[in-house]
Parts: sequence; C-alpha cells; structure tokens
Amino acid sequence: MLNFFALALSLCVLASLHQVNALGQTRCVDFNSSTSTFAVVQGGNAAPILLAEDEWPGVQRAASDFAVDVERVTGVKPSVLNASTSSTSSSSRPIIIGTLGKSSLIDQVINATQLDVSAVEGAWEAFMGTEVENPLPGVDSAYVIVGADKRGTIFALYDLSEQFGVSPWYWWADVPVKKHSELFITPNGCAHGSPSVQYRGIFINDEQPGLTNWALEKFTNGTGALHTGSPFNHFFYAKLFELILRMKANYLWPAMWGSAFNVDDAENQPLADMFGVVLGTSHEEPWPAQSPSNGTYSVKETGIILQTPSLSTNVPLGEDTNIELLERIISDQRQILTDVYNGTDIRTIPQVWTLYKEVQGFYEDGMMAPDDVALLWSDDNWGNIRRFPLESERNRSGGSGVYYHPQRPGDNKNNCAQGYSCPVPTLTLDNFDPFANRYVDIGAGGPTPFTFTVSANVSWLKFSTTQGSISPDRSEQRVWISVGDWDQLEGGDIAAKITFAASATAAPGLTLQMRNMSVAVDFVATKNNVPAGNAKFTGFVEDGGAIAFEAAHASRNNPVQGIRWTEIPGLGRTLSGITPWPRSGADGANFTAGSGPSVEYDFLNFNTISESGNITVITYESPSLNGNGNDRPLGFAVQVDDLAIQSSYFMPPAAPGQLPSVWNDFVANSIVPVTMTFEGVEPGTHTLKIFMIEPAVVVQRVVIDTGGLKQSYFGPPESVQW
Ligand SMILES: *[C@@H]1O[C@H](CO)[C@@H](O)[C@H](O)[C@H]1NC(C)=O
Ligand SMILES: *[C@@H]1O[C@H](CO)[C@@H](O)[C@H](O)[C@H]1NC(C)=O
Ligand SMILES: *[C@@H]1O[C@H](CO)[C@@H](O)[C@H](O)[C@H]1NC(C)=O
Ligand SMILES: *[C@@H]1O[C@H](CO)[C@@H](O)[C@H](O)[C@H]1NC(C)=O
Ligand SMILES: *[C@@H]1O[C@H](CO)[C@@H](O)[C@H](O)[C@H]1NC(C)=O
Ligand SMILES: *[C@@H]1O[C@H](CO)[C@@H](O)[C@H](O)[C@H]1NC(C)=O
Ligand SMILES: *[C@@H]1O[C@H](CO)[C@@H](O)[C@H](O)[C@H]1NC(C)=O
Ligand SMILES: *[C@@H]1O[C@H](CO)[C@@H](O)[C@H](O)[C@H]1NC(C)=O
Ligand SMILES: *[C@@H]1O[C@H](CO)[C@@H](O)[C@H](O)[C@H]1NC(C)=O
Ligand SMILES: *[C@@H]1O[C@H](CO)[C@@H](O)[C@H](O)[C@H]1NC(C)=O
Ligand SMILES: *[C@@H]1O[C@H](CO)[C@@H](O)[C@H](O)[C@H]1NC(C)=O
Repeated sequence: MLNFFALALSLCVLASLHQVNALGQTRCVDFNSSTSTFAVVQGGNAAPILLAEDEWPGVQRAASDFAVDVERVTGVKPSVLNASTSSTSSSSRPIIIGTLGKSSLIDQVINATQLDVSAVEGAWEAFMGTEVENPLPGVDSAYVIVGADKRGTIFALYDLSEQFGVSPWYWWADVPVKKHSELFITPNGCAHGSPSVQYRGIFINDEQPGLTNWALEKFTNGTGALHTGSPFNHFFYAKLFELILRMKANYLWPAMWGSAFNVDDAENQPLADMFGVVLGTSHEEPWPAQSPSNGTYSVKETGIILQTPSLSTNVPLGEDTNIELLERIISDQRQILTDVYNGTDIRTIPQVWTLYKEVQGFYEDGMMAPDDVALLWSDDNWGNIRRFPLESERNRSGGSGVYYHPQRPGDNKNNCAQGYSCPVPTLTLDNFDPFANRYVDIGAGGPTPFTFTVSANVSWLKFSTTQGSISPDRSEQRVWISVGDWDQLEGGDIAAKITFAASATAAPGLTLQMRNMSVAVDFVATKNNVPAGNAKFTGFVEDGGAIAFEAAHASRNNPVQGIRWTEIPGLGRTLSGITPWPRSGADGANFTAGSGPSVEYDFLNFNTISESGNITVITYESPSLNGNGNDRPLGFAVQVDDLAIQSSYFMPPAAPGQLPSVWNDFVANSIVPVTMTFEGVEPGTHTLKIFMIEPAVVVQRVVIDTGGLKQSYFGPPESVQW
C-alpha cells in the first residue's frame, strides 16, 4: 500500500505549471445546457450555495472560494448562505453542500430524501454529488454535494472549480481563467472514491533565496518573524494550503531553512488545522508544539510524523554506533508520542521514515524501523527511484510511500547548457547513400546581400535549388542535395565536388575581388548493391555504415508467462521506451538470458566494421537504479541471429546509501548506452533480439555500427524501413 507521496518543492516548479487539467477525474461539467444538466449559472443567475452553520470552518472557507471561482469564470457570484435546519430561506435549485456526520443540513437532506450515501460513508476523502428532488421544505430540487469527511467535501468543491476552468495554480502561476457565460453539471454528477494514496503532499525545500525573498516582499513587508526572520507566516501558508487542497493533496512539510512553522507565526498551526492540511516535519524542524517559548513542547494533533534527525549535520556518529543510537532516538520519539497521546496505541499514530540519501544506507546497513512506520522510498534527486519495496517489505502495516526530490535545474557540473563539460563543436558532411538526404544551409555572415549559385562537376547530382539570394530579410536558405540518377553510378563510393559561388552586391569597403566567394563541398555517394536473395526483406536498412531504430518499432514481440515488452509512450529522449510489463508479472520472476520475453528487429546491412564481420550494437537504456535489490541488478540480453547471446547488467552495485560511480554521467545525459560487439555478421539480412532478464529495464533506442557510425549523442536518425 502506498501511503505517502511527498514532493520537495521550490518556487521554480510553481512557475512552470500552467495547464488546467483535472488529472484522472471524470468530466462532469458542461458549458452548454442539455437535458437534465443542473444549472450552476444560467441566464446571468447563479444557483445559491447552502451550508450548515455547524459545517467545518474549512468547508465554509472552501465554499467561499468556490463562489469566487464561479464568479471568476462567469462574472456572476453565487450567494453563500447558512441554512439553519429549521428554516431554509432558499430560492430555486440551490447547491447544497455538507459533510457527513458534521453537517446538520446534510443529515436533514438525507433524512428527507433517503439519499443513498453508502458509496462515500466512512470512505477517507471521498465525495459524491447528485441532483435530488424536495431536499428541503420549499425547495423543489437541488444539486447535493456530500463529502465523507472534511477534505472529501473540500475536494468536491475544488474539483468542480477546476473543471469550470480555474486552475489550482490560478494564483501561484497566474494561470488565466477561461471565461464561460454559463456553467452546468452533467446528469451523472461528480464523484470520487478514496484516493489510492492516503497522504499526498509537498515539502518546501531549498527555499532560500528565491522563495524566502519573494515571501518577504509579498507577505511581510520585509520584516521577518521575531526569532528566525522567517517570512513564512499565516498569510503565506493560507495561499499554500489553498493550493495544496486545490491539487487534492493533504500533507505538508513546512519550510525549515531558518524557519520554524510553529514559532514563526502562532497562527500557522491553527490555520493548517482549519484548512484541513496534515503536517509532518523534516530535518531539524521541531515537532508541532503548543508553546516552545518556555521550553515545553506539547505536541498538538494537527498531525505528526516521526522524523529522522539530519544526521549529516546534527549527529556526529561513528559507523557502528550510528544505527544503535538512531534506533534509540526513534524509540524515544515513539515514547514521547505515546506519552503525549495519553497512552494511545503507538501503532495507530501515522509515522513515516524517509529513506532519503544516506538514510537509505542506514536501512540497508540493518537499521530497523517498527513495522507500523511507513517507509518513504526516495529518488536520487534526479527523479529515479532508488529502491522499490521488495516482496518482504510490502506487507508492513505502516505501508510505504514515495518521496520525489527533484534537483530542476540548479548549478550542475554536468550540464552543458550551463556552460559545463561541453564537447568541442565539429562539423562534417556525412557520406550520402540512397536512404537519407543531405543539406547545406547558406547564411549571411554580415548585412551585405548576395546571390549564390550551386553547381557540381557531375551530372547525377540533384539540388533543391541551384540559385538563390540572401539578404537581411531572408538570412538563410537550405539546399537539399540528392542523387538524381543512381543508374549512372556503379557500386561503391563515388566522389563529386559541389561548388557554392556567392556574388555580393556593391558595398562600401568591398573590392571587386571580395565581392565574389566560392566554397567547395566534397560529396561522396555510396551505392549499395543489395545482396542476392534479399528482395523480399522487410526491416531497417543500413544507411552510411549504421542502422538506427526506436525500440518501440519491433518487427515481432514475443511474450513469455504473460509478460511482454510494452511501449511507454513519450518516455525517454527520442520517441518512447519499452519495458517488460506487467512490472511484477510472473510473481516478479527473472529469466535466464534467452528464455524471457523478447522483441525482435529485422535489419539489412551492406557493411561490417573494416570488413571483419563485426558489428557493434548499442542499446540505449533509461537510467534506473538497481531498485529490485542488490541481488537483482537490472539486466537484459541481446542476440543477433543465432550467435552467442550477450547479457548486460549495466548498473554497477553501490555501497549502502551511495549511488553507483557512473551514475552522474548516466543521469546527467538521461541515458545509459550499452555496447556489445557481435562477430560473424556478414552483409545481408539479420534479426536482433532483446530479451528480458529483470523487470524495470527500459530500452529506448538501438543503434548498430556497421563501420560508419559517427560520434553523436543518440546515433543517427531512424533508418529507412523497407
Ligand atoms: C455551446 O454553445 C455555444 C454558444 O451558444 C455554441 O457556439 C457551441 O457550439 C455550443 N457547443 C456545443 C457542444 O453544443
Ligand atoms: C455560517 O456560519 C458559520 C458559523 O457560525 C460562520 O462562521 C460563517 O461565516 C457563516 N457563513 C455565512 C456565509 O454567513
Ligand atoms: C426525519 O424525517 C422525519 C419525517 O420524514 C421526521 O419526522 C424526523 O424528525 C426527521 N429527523 C430528523 C433528525 O430530521
Ligand atoms: C503590509 O503593508 C500593507 C500596506 O501598509 C498592509 O496593508 C499589510 O497589512 C502589511 N502586511 C503585513 C503582513 O504586515
Ligand atoms: C509552558 O507553557 C505551557 C503551555 O502554556 C504550560 O502548560 C507549561 O506549564 C509551561 N511550562 C513551564 C515550565 O512554565
Ligand atoms: C491527554 O490527556 C490530557 C488530560 O486529560 C488532555 O488535556 C489532553 O488533551 C490529552 N491529549 C490527547 C492528545 O489526547
Ligand atoms: C503478504 O501478505 C499476503 C496476503 O496476506 C500474503 O499472501 C503474502 O504471502 C505476504 N507476503 C510476505 C512476503 O509475507
Ligand atoms: C568531381 O570531383 C571529385 C572531387 O574532387 C573527383 O574525385 C571526381 O573525379 C570528379 N568527377 C568528375 C566527373 O570530374
Ligand atoms: C564575380 O561573379 C560574377 C557572377 O558569377 C561574375 O560575373 C564576375 O565576373 C565575377 N567577378 C570577379 C572579379 O571574379
Ligand atoms: C535471478 O534472481 C536471483 C536472485 O533472486 C539471482 O540469484 C539470479 O542470478 C537471477 N538470474 C539472472 C538470470 O539474473
Ligand atoms: C572483432 O571483434 C572481436 C571481438 O570483440 C575483436 O577482438 C576484433 O578486434 C574485432 N575486429 C575488428 C576489426 O574490429
């Protein structure tokens, strides 16, 4: 069971999201009326919104957001009314909102209509919505929203807002609201069961200087909190809590770089409770405490997590004592919780242990957490999960979670775009053969206009244009070069010379000589004669000494035990990735090389490396860590025809808590190239097979070097397919 999802966040993320998309939610809103739609706004009138006075203040608050959202979209603001259970002052067709077990209004509606709420009753954060007749005295019909609990009702409202066109990011990222004059709810209504992940939230991390300075300006007029100087007061958190709930999340680790949630602003914690946001803590952040000023920490009930002390900075310990001391700290923390909660069974208090960075190393070195503590499995700062819960870890009563701690884009010594580790630029014109075209771009080196002509010393070359002109208005022109008549050529490589001659218009300072310029381009056409007997071949054809194809473009796909290589669209650097699926198929089994599910690719080569019969196969894998445990490193196998099969376990092992030595290169390039040489592959048609050994391997692309492969990131464009 996945109990937690936490995302470390800094302001950069906030600014980059800008789409209104209700993820995975069924559409239940229409902008045109049709039979049985419920009108939220029609003809300039908005349905009034009714709540009970005894409703959660957090729901009251979200209802006022909801009314403003309707106004944002339509320009018409619904009234929000407290309906007392005795007298309903309602006009026609209101929206009635209430939380089961809390709202006397919703009790009354259910009593009056016998509305079936069994689908949401007792279901964490679930909600339903439906139109009912005669819900209240004097009310003919209403759209009734029932939340199973406080957040269930709040999510019901924000779900509608999002579908109306108000992005959760409308404030943080200035996402424009799409206007509509009328709003309707479809007859099926809107509903959602319990989310499959119980706690979903963010961590405000690395907030200095960006978020801190911005918050100082935006929320405090430049004055930080008394003890810490922190700007993260309840004005800031009101905006953040609203965002969290609009995104259907429920959980927060507050900002902690020089900030202390409970100390910085006494209103922070009650506000979280009012909104309905559960709090955890990270690093050295003190537990939620009532009155820290006199040294007494009294833990409040807004929510709590068991925190791992920030070992790298706070607890200078030796190798072996680390684990014992840590286990004792956790045990002490559990005792504090038990005491504060007056002997409450500790196993019923949600606690999570975050296996981030070196902390995962402690776990791998044998440190244990009680079974009721959730293990929060972490990524490597680049978005790659470091370990999946193993079979033996999946039955923990505390469950498990995922912690995504992206690095985006910071100062990165492997990032060429930031000026680091850039390769020396080179320019070469590749050989030409029937399966690709070449082009030359002609551009201005200055403001003087010129005309140009293109010519060759052979008659079999063809140009997309043989003349043109370049000026500031038209600063570049592309000339495509191809072979017009292959029949004039014999087999093999045939050289030609192309001449680009430019003639500039007269300009001050240009002598007659300087006005003319000529550039020669050497060109080699390669005519391959298809080996006899291959006329019926279908597959990828060699081009310039190399063959390249996307992993998804297999000729054949052979499942084994219900597992098949399956495309994950959009994943990776070029087209997509393929991976054995289902992920835990055949009880998570692995396969010996050659026995597992496979994909096959037919190809035709005209050459081998130095006519040796060798070819080199480079498969490009997504960088993934050995998340199946150290005895199950990622592995796959490659075979050409019936030649000896070759296995690759491409990710080296790492010491506990560490990353593999090669990891930075792999992850900075977002690719892992695996190179294998096969001998005895004569020119002709062949089949390359990729076999599953272990799950969770993603293959993106395959490049075969038959002697002409040039250096590049991902190989040449995909080869022509016959
Ligand atoms: C919805 O109504 C608008 C305005 O009357 C109209 O232009 C549009 O075609 C309608 N769309 C549909 C799907 O009926
Ligand atoms: C409804 O009643 C609650 C509780 O008294 C109050 O906090 C809230 O402001 C009222 N809402 C409106 C719209 O009057
Ligand atoms: C439920 O409805 C019945 C009549 O339909 C009424 O007598 C009763 O008082 C109602 N109960 C509550 C709690 O409103
Ligand atoms: C900041 O200054 C403005 C204008 O004086 C004032 O309205 C606002 O309340 C101040 N905010 C804080 C957090 O002090
Ligand atoms: C500290 O404050 C708390 C809460 O006000 C109070 O219960 C406690 O007695 C105080 N402790 C001391 C030592 O003054
Ligand atoms: C523990 O008991 C005390 C005294 O009865 C009470 O004030 C406090 O609210 C209780 N704490 C919790 C977390 O239930
Ligand atoms: C986990 O629990 C399931 C269901 O109770 C059981 O079938 C399975 O054997 C357990 N696995 C382990 C590793 O204990
Ligand atoms: C054209 O030029 C190339 C390169 O200089 C040369 O190798 C080739 O023989 C020439 N062909 C003819 C027909 O002149
Ligand atoms: C420059 O090129 C033009 C056009 O090809 C030609 O007519 C002219 O004679 C050339 N002038 C010199 C000085 O080469
Ligand atoms: C399959 O996994 C086991 C560990 O469970 C390992 O010992 C074995 O080497 C793996 N087989 C292959 C082919 O990698
Ligand atoms: C062919 O491959 C074998 C095995 O990798 C290698 O020893 C040999 O040097 C290769 N020959 C050429 C010409 O690359």
